[in-house]
Amino acid sequence: MAIPPLDQLFEFLRFQSVSTDLNYAPHVTACAEWLAGKFRGMGLSAQSYPTAGHPVVVARNEHKPERRTVLIYGHYDVQPVDPPELWTTPPFEPRVESGVIFGRGAADNKGQIMAHVLGVEKTLKEKGDLPVNLIFLVEGEEECGSDNLEAFLNEYRDELKPDIIAISDTGMVAPGVPAFTYGLRGILALEVKLFGAATDLHSGIYGGIAPNPATLLSRMIATLHDESFSVAIPSFYESVAPIQQWERDEWASLPLGDDAMKTMIRSPALLGEPGYSAIERAWARPTAEVNGIGGGYQGQGSKTVIPREAFAKLTFRLVPNQTPAEIEAKVRAHLERVCPPEVRLEITSGHGGDPFLCDPHSPDGLAARRAMARTWGREPALIREGGSIPILHTFKRILGADILLLGLALPDCAAHAPNENFPVANLEAGIRMNQALLEELAAVK
Ligand code: BES
Ligand code: MN
Repeated sequence: MAIPPLDQLFEFLRFQSVSTDLNYAPHVTACAEWLAGKFRGMGLSAQSYPTAGHPVVVARNEHKPERRTVLIYGHYDVQPVDPPELWTTPPFEPRVESGVIFGRGAADNKGQIMAHVLGVEKTLKEKGDLPVNLIFLVEGEEECGSDNLEAFLNEYRDELKPDIIAISDTGMVAPGVPAFTYGLRGILALEVKLFGAATDLHSGIYGGIAPNPATLLSRMIATLHDESFSVAIPSFYESVAPIQQWERDEWASLPLGDDAMKTMIRSPALLGEPGYSAIERAWARPTAEVNGIGGGYQGQGSKTVIPREAFAKLTFRLVPNQTPAEIEAKVRAHLERVCPPEVRLEITSGHGGDPFLCDPHSPDGLAARRAMARTWGREPALIREGGSIPILHTFKRILGADILLLGLALPDCAAHAPNENFPVANLEAGIRMNQALLEELAAVK
């Protein structure tokens, strides 16, 4: 039934490697150990390195001075599964249905990194060697901000220095339609809390007297956008680089029009900043989003209470040339200004990452695009994407190498959502892409 490569991915997917929730830490560590063992089984030297957070797995072949060095980065950690009741089958019991693999991490990022692992394994079996010096670096904290990777890179920078970095942690345009991603949005995460009375209060006895932090927080959140859903934080768009005409043309030629996007998200309508197509907004315009909101009674039925506090988890997606520091200062100033005086405001900084742009016409960029064209029999589209990989700039700064993004996930892969999935065909294409990629990168002068 299941072909051997699928068995390997299934083993990988069974680990509950949820990085953001420390209750899962033993599973995260076990996943790292398993991966290091998998690399050793392929004849690579590999180790799972402990960090102040979750382990980093590094594997390498025997390096030879005359060959180029390629670092392939990915992450073995996954997002939480909630809401669990919306999964058709259990998230850590992977299965294939109609040629599609379902399970948390199937697309983001276990399926994609596994395609590279299996591609390397296949080349080693077929040819006995690789055309490049290879370094696999697979971390366990990408989904919660890669907090400990910078220190790790600094400590091992000499052993980790590559000529080029390749990452498959982004998307394709559609089944069989590859994409070379030359830009990603950056991110800034903040948590906002409002505090009212010293304790929860009976809303009959005190309603009409006490400030309600949930009500007041809702008002504050409503000031983040104007009537037309542009971000209304003063000078939020100040340093935004405009979208180039060639980008608008290239993206308009893709099967990702507004109707297609609406169908994809199964929403009654789209909503966002006016003046741009949906895909332009998602790939090249900044946003303010509420990712979570709470306070007061959340259980069944009703409970007549004025909560003592309310919170919202916010993220801002950033585009060139915005920076997390610049936007954090503007957001904080705005929230402090609109906060009603009857409550106390607390803002906690979360993770941040700069937006990313690279040159798709560099020699390595062209080599990567050739590898994709060989794999799918058609030229990859040149796209930007809305997601963030905050560690990219740290890689560039510490390791001094450019980054290639060769995504394998489909737009409807349900990353971070229930029923995450990855087609078997994409795993197979990814294996071939890895083989072509290492050949093409080896030949770059
Ligand atoms: N693989 C994604 C990033 C991504 C998603 C890139 C879609 C392009 C298209 C990555 O694992 C991810 O989810 N990153 C987080 C970063 C955050 C947790 C710091 C994100 O974008 O929300
Ligand atoms: Mn990912």
